[in-house]
Formats: sequence, structure tokens, C-alpha cells
Amino acid sequence: MQITINNHQYEANVGDRLLDIARTNHEHIGYFCGGNALCQTCYVKILEGAELLSPLNDDEKALLSENLIREGTRMACQTTVEKPGTIRFISAVEEVKQMFDTNPLQLAGYAGKMGWEAMVKFPDTLQYQSKRELNLMDVIADVLSGIADAFKLIGKAFESTCSCTTERCDCNTAKVN
Ligand code: FES
Repeated sequence: MQITINNHQYEANVGDRLLDIARTNHEHIGYFCGGNALCQTCYVKILEGAELLSPLNDDEKALLSENLIREGTRMACQTTVEKPGTIRFISAVEEVKQMFDTNPLQLAGYAGKMGWEAMVKFPDTLQYQSKRELNLMDVIADVLSGIADAFKLIGKAFESTCSCTTERCDCNTAKVN
């Protein structure tokens, strides 16, 4: 089946986690806690196919405000594809990037809104997180793997340009003028 992430189309299967599909395909998405429902950077907005996804789980109910849920926000680390069909979503980091590129003035409003929604849910979030029994070593391993992936992506971004001065170079990358 096809899934569209930040306007790019990929293959996906029933059972795949949205975060994994995005990461496998190097799409902009936050995953600082490595998928442990801690960092809240993996928010995505479902634009199509919400009914094909797993229902909201306890992590999402504790962390997402009513408004965000109404707007179609899900946590990519907690959401899996349950049925085949057309799914389309945009990640919060991509939304921010697009605002930055097109109209940076929107960013203040966006930050204020997200801050407010987080504040509304803060008591629930705090209570929920304090009850969770997390394996610290697993969380640390996931965070480190997330950081390593982020560095790989940065490296890839740098590799995509070359500073060779010869007319033809062998590095197979876009040429910097
Ligand atoms: S909450 Fe951190 S990756 Fe989902």
C-alpha cells in the first residue's frame, strides 16, 4: 500500500508504525526519545486515512489535548497502520519547516498554540508519566540510536553537495557552484 508523508509517497504495510515508515524513508520527523512516548516531538497530522490507523492508545490519550486530537494529531511512535488504503500525513517538524520557508511570522502563533495545548494536558501528562515503568537502559539505547540516526541524516545532507573544482567529478553528488 502507499503512504504519503510530507507530500512524498512510499510503500508501507499493515502493522508498520508511522514513525518507522518516516524514519526508514528519511522524512522529517521528531523522535528524540526513540519512540518511548516521552519527547512528544513525533507529532503528525493525519490528512487522510485516519480510520485505517490503530486507535488512540493510553500514551496518546494522556499526552494529546482534545483540540489536537480533533485536528487529527497522532503520535507517530504510537500509531500503526491497521488496514490497507490511502494514508496521508504531515509531521509537526515539516509543518514548522514549511512555515519557516513561507511565512515565518506564523511560527510565533504556532509555538503559542502548541505550548498552550501542552499546558492544558500537563497535569495528565505528569501523572501518566510518573506511573510508567520504563526500562532506563532501553530508553537510553533508543535515544542514542535516535541521535545516531540524526547525525547520519546531517552527514547525508552534507554529502549531497560537493566542492570539487574539476569540471567532472566522481563523487556522484550535486555540484556546488
Ligand atoms: S514521543 Fe518521542 S518519539 Fe514519540
